[in-house]
Amino acid sequence: QEHFYLEGHIAMAVPGEDEDVTIYSSTQHPSEVQHMVSHALGVPSNAITVEIRRMGGGFGGKETQGNQFAALAAIAAKRHHRAVKIRPDRDDDMIATGKRHDFVVDYEVGFDDDGNILGVDFMFAARCGFSSDLSGPVTDRALFHCDNTYFWPAVHAQSAPLYTNTVSNTAFRGFGGPQGMVGAERVIDEVAFAVGKDPLEIRKKNFYGTSDRNITPYHQTVEDNIIHRIIAELEASSNYERRRREIRAFNANSRIIKRGLALTPVKFGISFTATHYNQAGALVHVYTDGSVHLNHGGTEMGQGLYLKVAQVVAEEFQIDLDQVKITATTTGKVPNTSATAASSGSDLNGMAAQNGARQIKDRLTNFAAEKYQVPRDQVLFLPNRVRIGNQEIAFADLVKQAYMARIQLSAAGFYKTPKIHWNRDKGEGRPFYYFAYGASCSEVSVDTLTGEYVVERTDILHETGRSLNRAIDLGQIEGGFIQGMGWLTTEELWWDEKGRLRTHAPSTYKIPLASDRPKIFNVTLADWPEAHEPTVHRSKAVGEPPFPLGMSVLHALSDAVASVADHRICPRLDAPATPERVLMAIERLKAAKPA
Ligand code: MTE
Ligand code: MOS
Repeated sequence: QEHFYLEGHIAMAVPGEDEDVTIYSSTQHPSEVQHMVSHALGVPSNAITVEIRRMGGGFGGKETQGNQFAALAAIAAKRHHRAVKIRPDRDDDMIATGKRHDFVVDYEVGFDDDGNILGVDFMFAARCGFSSDLSGPVTDRALFHCDNTYFWPAVHAQSAPLYTNTVSNTAFRGFGGPQGMVGAERVIDEVAFAVGKDPLEIRKKNFYGTSDRNITPYHQTVEDNIIHRIIAELEASSNYERRRREIRAFNANSRIIKRGLALTPVKFGISFTATHYNQAGALVHVYTDGSVHLNHGGTEMGQGLYLKVAQVVAEEFQIDLDQVKITATTTGKVPNTSATAASSGSDLNGMAAQNGARQIKDRLTNFAAEKYQVPRDQVLFLPNRVRIGNQEIAFADLVKQAYMARIQLSAAGFYKTPKIHWNRDKGEGRPFYYFAYGASCSEVSVDTLTGEYVVERTDILHETGRSLNRAIDLGQIEGGFIQGMGWLTTEELWWDEKGRLRTHAPSTYKIPLASDRPKIFNVTLADWPEAHEPTVHRSKAVGEPPFPLGMSVLHALSDAVASVADHRICPRLDAPATPERVLMAIERLKAAKPA
């Protein structure tokens, strides 16, 4: 899958005095660009400043792959003593930069007559390309998600990150996790066909449960499992049972158009599996007019991170959001940052900014208590005001008074995720702080003469915890689902025998259009804050987890295809299930169908 960010890669380097260079880079990882450029120029990190206000989309494609453009621009800028900007055009960007890893998943599964899975053995082979890039952690994350929401009583899972003479593949929303889950879901479908039961029944039977059925293959205990409730609510709200019967009846009377329905779950692990990345910094200044300058290590790529973090700071001081200025991410203000990735941007940077704001608030509280001779607990931050004992003053007035009394009105905030650890050699630990859950139910109709299809309806219930911003989270869930659906259906990269990418523009590479979205599209946030570890305002990460919700479309297509052979044969429909693949699967099943 190609990232297809609307804005491609871009970098501008501006030489400064001495060895200094300032880089404006479309990167999710400014600190890494800083290190790469300093390495390329042979100067220390302190000579390089990397700034990024926003990207027109990143999706993981700008986690490492912006480095080369930044380094090239920097070398040219130094050589020619002038500002240099590099921006590959769309076709070159598509040809030259890495994509989502394609996988071949092999599996063996043991199960009993009721469809209880007893053991699985997986091999995940991934095309990595000519350099290692992030392929190690990507294939690791595939292994971490080969269970999806299921308890495997016995499991062996292995990855084979393959060195190939192709473009160097990289991070892409989900980071290998979705590939792992697709393996798990295919296993479920195979078992369902083998025992002649509804796949949803097999799914539910094999879900993680309590006590002895809640240990993952990597020995982390699943403590926050809400998949049973998610599935129960979605099954009811989507009328799964009734529509399944109606679809069977429809298919019996429809010769050419066949319908299919599937409901698939998602469990996604939150945290970088490289434990040290789970830290973040922020810089908060309060000016004497009461306005706030906010900076943090996260980058904005359309996911709404800047707004969420500003909301957290505004909430801490109880001031209006427009009093908080969110400023461009720069290595000069907050150093040694992690990539904005692994969906942890708001968890990490939100907490760091909250920490910074609390330091200042704490000083303001002490100052007010002392000056007005009241106990600390009688200093209360109210909307744009502060109540001190029985008088109220404007927030800005308190700030001004604090300044006159020489109180520091700036703070560097910091956060590191607690509780996580991971021993890669042993394959044991608690790599994830928590899991994010969701599920989707999709119905498709397929033209069995051409393989073309339409998504008639999708219902989604996806967990956000106590959402920091419902509008943003809804956008993340809808967008993630559509992007996941594109991955599993129409987005096919095609190279010719000479190794040339022939699908290097929207004319030949088909991402979902607005007109491809489900005709009926119901998305609900599971806004249940109780069940999980403390996070910023008890919200949950929402950037990547909705992406694999697209699996319900693949499985609905498979269900429609299976109907041509009376649901007796598992179609083994590979992704992307393009209309050609769907048609070939239909032809295969028709040929195999006993007369
Ligand atoms: N949403 C938009 N609009 N654009 C993007 O580039 N990237 C996704 C996700 N949502 C992306 C997006 C990816 S791959 C990740 S890891 C997260 O956002 C990163 O942001 P967060 O950690 O702040 O959620
Ligand atoms: Mo996202 S693939 O972790 O940038």
